Amino acid sequence: MTDEHRQPEVNIGLVGHVDHGKTTLVQALSGEWTDQHSEEMKRGISIRLGYADATFRQCPDEDEPEKYTVDEECPDGSPSEPLRTVSFVDAPGHETLMATMLSGASIMDGAVLVVSASEPVPQAQTEEHLMALDIIGIDNIVIAQNKVDLVDREQAAENYEQIQEFVSGTVAEGAPIVPVSAQQGVNMDVLIQAIEEEIPTPDRDPSEDAQMLVARSFDINRPGTTWDSLMGGVLGGSLVEGQLHDGEDIELRPGREVEEGGQTEWRPVETTVRSLQAGGEDVEEATPGGLLGVGTGLDPSLTKGDALAGQVAGPPGTLPPTFEQFEMDVDLLERIVGETDEVEEISTGEPLMLTVGTATTVGSVTSARGGECEVALKRPVCAEPGAKIAINRRVGARWRLIGVGTLRE
Ligand code: GTP
Repeated sequence: MTDEHRQPEVNIGLVGHVDHGKTTLVQALSGEWTDQHSEEMKRGISIRLGYADATFRQCPDEDEPEKYTVDEECPDGSPSEPLRTVSFVDAPGHETLMATMLSGASIMDGAVLVVSASEPVPQAQTEEHLMALDIIGIDNIVIAQNKVDLVDREQAAENYEQIQEFVSGTVAEGAPIVPVSAQQGVNMDVLIQAIEEEIPTPDRDPSEDAQMLVARSFDINRPGTTWDSLMGGVLGGSLVEGQLHDGEDIELRPGREVEEGGQTEWRPVETTVRSLQAGGEDVEEATPGGLLGVGTGLDPSLTKGDALAGQVAGPPGTLPPTFEQFEMDVDLLERIVGETDEVEEISTGEPLMLTVGTATTVGSVTSARGGECEVALKRPVCAEPGAKIAINRRVGARWRLIGVGTLRE
């Protein structure tokens, strides 16, 4: 692998209110645009799940923060040295895509919260996304105070104070706030330094069994492909543990719904890894960090249109259990973000939208008492007891985050 195609080793979420500049910032750091989805993926398994990789580099002869860069050439003309490759996961700022934000958060090792300097703090999704980070337990956070080119010094200082005040008492308290202009490429070196310092690559044990959270799945065959040139189904997602190898057998859970004698049940699916792509390159072995494309031997009709999104993949017999119903301990927010009313207790019979890992499923509450409740799921989930569950309730026309659950044994 060349320097420029090193496999990413850490996933960093880009979160914040719509139009505050997440995409522009990723572009400034990586030269890539994250808004491109599956078209490219469908040819050669290069997937974009709103992902872009950036290699942070340094010019050892320069002082801090000027030494940090994404350019391959230093100001004196010498080549810069790569530090590490990071993968940015772009969280949609749009209010209806909170579930996508939450399932993305399950594969983030840290996050950059983008806040526009030209608007009062906080805007709705700034607050909602921060709450989501809090709930999922992501505490390695850097705040990018963006669009400082649009305000004068005094406004920038005032906005900076508003941000400080807003994050105090939250998971982002004390996080560095870096004034930047993503559009003008201003202060990118300071931002890279802050990310290097605040969002370390997690320690991982390579001997752990592989566990991949599937975020998307595809049928990459063009219509009319004949059976002899048909490609197997493709999975897109992120490894949270272990390593995955080309040629290895894997299992997917919950798997597929099978009907037998009028009864339906979910059964794990087994297949073989036929190809692996990481950081946009074909690889023999993949490690955690960045988005992975896994070509499999599965019938592509099984993987079509994200049908396997939310599932977990790993060596057969090693995956966590599948739950069609579960009990969880519940911790409710005091109030829904942006609303004044208190969050009411969960009641028996009410529908909830639950995000567990990359899976989002609707459940019906079969019993609720105090800090716990039991839920029957429309679609089962594969999860480890102790897993965090984001709980959303229908309020008016949309699902709103109301709290966090912890999966019971
Ligand atoms: P969503 O993906 O829709 O949530 O938006 P986003 O947060 O990715 O915002 P995006 O990067 O698309 O930027 C929104 C608008 O702000 C675009 O028109 C950008 O050109 C502009 N913009 C982003 N960063 C800056 C900046 O630093 N300064 C100025 N002046 N404009 C910026």
